[in-house]
Amino acid sequence: MSVLHTQAVLERVFAAKRPQRGDVETLLRLDDERDTSLLFDFADDVRRRFVGAGVLLRGIIEFSSFCRNACAYCGLSRTNTQLRRYRLTDAEILAAAENICEAGIRTIVLQSGEEDNLDADWLSQMIAEVKARFDVAITLSVGERRRDEYALWREAGADRYLLKMETSDAALYESLHPGMSFENRMRCLRDLGELGYQTGTGNLVGLKGQTVESLAEDILFFKEGDFDMLSVSPFIPHAQTPLAAEPTGDLEMTLKMTALTRIVSGNAHIPATTAIGSLAGRDERPKALRAGANVLMPNFTPTPYRRQYEIYPNKRCVDENAGACPMCMAGMVAALGRWVDYGRGDSLKRSDADLVQAQRD
Ligand code: 5AD
Ligand code: FES
Repeated sequence: MSVLHTQAVLERVFAAKRPQRGDVETLLRLDDERDTSLLFDFADDVRRRFVGAGVLLRGIIEFSSFCRNACAYCGLSRTNTQLRRYRLTDAEILAAAENICEAGIRTIVLQSGEEDNLDADWLSQMIAEVKARFDVAITLSVGERRRDEYALWREAGADRYLLKMETSDAALYESLHPGMSFENRMRCLRDLGELGYQTGTGNLVGLKGQTVESLAEDILFFKEGDFDMLSVSPFIPHAQTPLAAEPTGDLEMTLKMTALTRIVSGNAHIPATTAIGSLAGRDERPKALRAGANVLMPNFTPTPYRRQYEIYPNKRCVDENAGACPMCMAGMVAALGRWVDYGRGDSLKRSDADLVQAQRD
């Protein structure tokens, strides 16, 4: 495709309130390097204008690997009986939170598998405790829950919530998530938004049965939902899952999806995902940071457990010490001529007044 034509399609997708799926598909199908550079540079430019040069850090604590679900791609699936499960103690969680703060990071992500018997009151006390001790934003990522539980945690002080839809194709979603429904996923995302959470969603690239049309629909879904945070990860096959023999998601396609996510979302916060950094070969997160991403997520799960949170194999940094990632990331960011932003990194989608109001509600 001519460079001029590519540029025209980019402008159109960027400017449209409802981008044409055909245009998004055209961009996802680009394979000539001149064209893909144009796409990545366009996204980099949107990132520069809408969120600036700073790269935000979110410290993640994977506090439990127990899961009630059987997602076909995920190593934490309850069907993986070879995985040794763990749950951090309160003291371990608080120590990890302290490590995050000592590194100067002001967002703590509390993530776990979707625990069957997660004690909502316990989590709410943990949120309150962390908020009382540290000046941080809390992001939760604990899966599909009832609205009253989401409300309880919000009242306890949780600021944000991550729940990927994984794919916007309801049939594909349900084929990969036995016993789960796309409708309930959407209900959760709606509840979270209504409760005043800064809400993030995201997808996987390279799932069995996923097409370019379907990926284009994911981009339209991101646009339509006006989410505060969005993420794009390549699928990485895990030996103890039904998708063990499937090919790994394509890096180029993942980068094109990251770029388009930036182009349609303007000022959403978008990570260079750990899965991108975990693909065979080099750590390619810098490429994502040059194609629209503005967030990195250093891992603060204590080292003995980190290896056991094996969503996919060869996850980056499983053998590093707790403090190693932020240093390494600062180097990565500096090499790109950018800088680490040690702010809370709240959503840029709402005005300060909205955020204060939501925090008060
Ligand atoms: N490859 C990449 N990402 C995965 N996730 C789960 N399994 C895999 C995999 N095999 C992601 C899902 C989920 C998040 C916790 O981990 O997107 O939302
Ligand atoms: Fe973890 Fe580099 S980001 S060691």
